[in-house]
Amino acid sequence: MLGNLNHVALAVPNLKAAQKAYEDSLGAKLSQPQALPEHGVTVVFVELPNTKIELLEPLGEDSPIAGFLKKNPDGGMHHLCYEVNDILHARDHLVENGARVLGDGEPKVGAHGKPVLFLHPKDFFGTLIELEQV
Ligand code: CO
Repeated sequence: MLGNLNHVALAVPNLKAAQKAYEDSLGAKLSQPQALPEHGVTVVFVELPNTKIELLEPLGEDSPIAGFLKKNPDGGMHHLCYEVNDILHARDHLVENGARVLGDGEPKVGAHGKPVLFLHPKDFFGTLIELEQV
């Protein structure tokens, strides 16, 4: 069911500082910042040869990553994103196997303009998982 690792997401308290660290210190290639008000984040992608790193900064009042940054003020790994071919089939399979899908269980449009779902971290060993249909 799982395809490629699409990205690893890091929650960061300051996107400018994170961009600088990745661009200047690590010499990485970065995308332009993209505000996603419906997801409560501003996102920058670090382009690597085999995958991407998603830098997430809170956007707006009740950002879903605000609580994470409260617990991890320096930032930290927030989620992994795996690619799937058929997100509804993947969801139904996961639910049948007892996994919990966050929110109303319906895919939303993610940062790449493709349908995404999130799975409860307690069902996957403390790691929040994003599925993206490709
Ligand atoms: Co993501």
